Amino acid sequence: MNELDRASELLRRARRVVAFTGAGVSAESGVPTFRGAGGLWEGRPVEELATPQGFAADPVRVWRFYEQRRCNLARCRPNAAHDVLARWQDRFAAYTLVTQNVDGLHEEAGARHVLHVHGSIWTVRCTRCGRERHEPAAPLPEVPPHCPACGAMERPGVVWFGEMLPEAVLDAASQAAAHADAMVVVGTSAVVYPAAGLVQIAASAGAAVIEVNPEASALAHLADVELRGPAGELLPRLDALLAGAPA
Ligand SMILES: NC(=O)c1ccc[n+]([C@@H]2O[C@H](COP(=O)([O-])OP(=O)(O)OC[C@H]3O[C@@H](n4cnc5c(N)ncnc54)[C@H](O)[C@@H]3O)[C@@H](O)[C@H]2O)c1
Ligand SMILES: [Zn+2]
Repeated sequence: MNELDRASELLRRARRVVAFTGAGVSAESGVPTFRGAGGLWEGRPVEELATPQGFAADPVRVWRFYEQRRCNLARCRPNAAHDVLARWQDRFAAYTLVTQNVDGLHEEAGARHVLHVHGSIWTVRCTRCGRERHEPAAPLPEVPPHCPACGAMERPGVVWFGEMLPEAVLDAASQAAAHADAMVVVGTSAVVYPAAGLVQIAASAGAAVIEVNPEASALAHLADVELRGPAGELLPRLDALLAGAPA
């Protein structure tokens, strides 16, 4: 039996399924990587921009960086991997889609309920009153944006290096992982914690782990099945097998 057949067998038997995605699921949509060319943006290391310290030092510079990313993302479309992961919400008895991505492409593909463990680039949050709002405009009407309630500067609704993950979201994701029959890990290098810990939670609770990635991730040793290749090709083939059609 080949790896795709094995993966589809495991998923056929599963009632509770978690999909856990990282930047790789958006690679075929042309999403620029976080670090870009050489890890620099306008001569600055990205770590200086995506941190609370970087924002405190120069919020306008950080906002210009995010504005550029938002405008780039606004031109990106979901790919076949996003489509399959959205369709699976109607395939399994219980299905949880957990993503480390901030790009919103899962929702754009039709996913109704996505757990964003690292926040969303389409959300902004007030630095004074904490009010959060959805802000889909790219370009933004003003850079940086200001809170409609209190007038203070807002910040991007993403989780920066050194920040806590949103507790309720991480709890929900951990619960889903702990009760999963199968977890499909797509396009993540699995080196960023605590998010990568979700794979360990699922594996130690006995879930079948299926990794979809052209390269072995740091947690590939936990995988029961390793599907080596681009998610945009392999997930549609896996989905076709599940639906009973030849891959
Ligand atoms: N799209 C986004 O929102 C975005 C983009 C870049 C980084 N980030 C953030 O940066 C952090 C990086 O961690 P990460 O693990 O998500 O990404 P990562 O960059 O560390 O790893 C990407 C993984 O995707 C794999 N990959 C590349 N092309 C692929 C394809 N076509 N199909 C399947 N897999 C493919 C790579 O082999 C690699 O293992 C995350 O916290 C994430 O929030 C988000
Ligand atoms: Zn406010």
